[in-house]
Amino acid sequence: MRSSFSDPQTARVLSRRALLRFLVGSPVLMLAPRGRLSAEEPVITSPVEALNVLDFEAAARQKLPPAHFGYIATGVDDDATVHANREAFSRLRIRMRRLVDVREVDLSMELFGRRWSSPILLAPAASQRALHPDGELATARAAKAKGHLHVLSTLATTSIEDVNAAQGEPVWFQLYPTSDWTITDRLLGRAEAAGCPVVVLTVDLFAGSNRETQERFARRDSRACGSCHQPEPSDYVRRKPMFDGIAVSHLPDVVDAPGLSWSFVRRLRDRTRAKLVLKGIVTAEDARLCLEHGIDGIVVSNHGGRAGESGRAAIESLPEVVAAVDGRIPVLVDGGFRRGTDVFKALALGARAVGIARPYLWGLGAFGQPGVERVLELLRAELALIMRQAGVTAVSRIDRSFVV
Ligand code: FNR
Repeated sequence: MRSSFSDPQTARVLSRRALLRFLVGSPVLMLAPRGRLSAEEPVITSPVEALNVLDFEAAARQKLPPAHFGYIATGVDDDATVHANREAFSRLRIRMRRLVDVREVDLSMELFGRRWSSPILLAPAASQRALHPDGELATARAAKAKGHLHVLSTLATTSIEDVNAAQGEPVWFQLYPTSDWTITDRLLGRAEAAGCPVVVLTVDLFAGSNRETQERFARRDSRACGSCHQPEPSDYVRRKPMFDGIAVSHLPDVVDAPGLSWSFVRRLRDRTRAKLVLKGIVTAEDARLCLEHGIDGIVVSNHGGRAGESGRAAIESLPEVVAAVDGRIPVLVDGGFRRGTDVFKALALGARAVGIARPYLWGLGAFGQPGVERVLELLRAELALIMRQAGVTAVSRIDRSFVV
């Protein structure tokens, strides 16, 4: 029997828009990659129109200058690790339990003595004012409104004090290591003075990164980038308030620090009383070194595929880190999370919490705070749905038995 979709008469009488609406309820959609309609789909014009977080990508692309959208999109080399981060989820399947009373599901997550409304956190992302005039303030307000953990980047374009005020409590502070201890010490001192309870040291970007997609998008941008960006190191940090009053004469002082080793971690551990989390750990060997160095938590991460082209998905690195840590410290993960089911799979593999970056940055770039809020809402709703479908009533009860 022919489906009504393949009937040419039916197709003729439906307007393009009505046809798309019809497709939304059709199994034909299953042919489209990653649950999306084709490029023909109209771009959403308000956050409520979004069916899932991927809908924000096209909206951000439409709204942002090409160079700035390219900054979000880019991976390194061939972007293989960006793609790997997504594809790996399709190799994990969820085992559904039946006949469990799932009228109430508890999405809350506890970390370092504080309970959050959800295990989904806003991962650190630099330069958010390049995406929306409200930048990190919009992100902080959305995180506050929805009760999500928010990690502020060293390279934020809003001061940590203003972000904390918008968030209504001190955020976690992400620290880029520098080859100049004085700079590290000043950054840390400022974060501590602002009351940040947790410092997240990113350890996957010491050696630089080859971001060709970013470069290709920038070449399509007809604006004169030189009117905002100048090549001097002082200009690079001019829009980064964490560096106010810090003299930066040499750009690698800021992020690239290829000479750093575990002795730096030891020094940092001795220097701060804040909880210290390492972001960018992807092996059991390094997870064990974290334990030896008194680290309080780990974020399994490949920087969203933006650091080294390992080709290995973050979710694939998670199990060996979880096994090595063996419950002694919490393990978080980020990289490629776009669906509630992705979050569910990571929690099942032993992650305490899951970070997202690009989805909320698309929401921010397209619509500001309401866009970020809607992204969080969609992911939470999807997570609650898969928890009900899989017969599990609390995030803390999602264990290894739920995935194969
Ligand atoms: C990042 N990321 C990042 N990480 C970090 O430790 N400090 C930073 O300043 C930034 N900046 C940044 C900017 C942009 C535009 C992106 C997309 C990412 C990495 C981020 O915290 C996280 O590890 C990954 O991006 C998570 O993967 P998804 O969710 O973007 O796929």
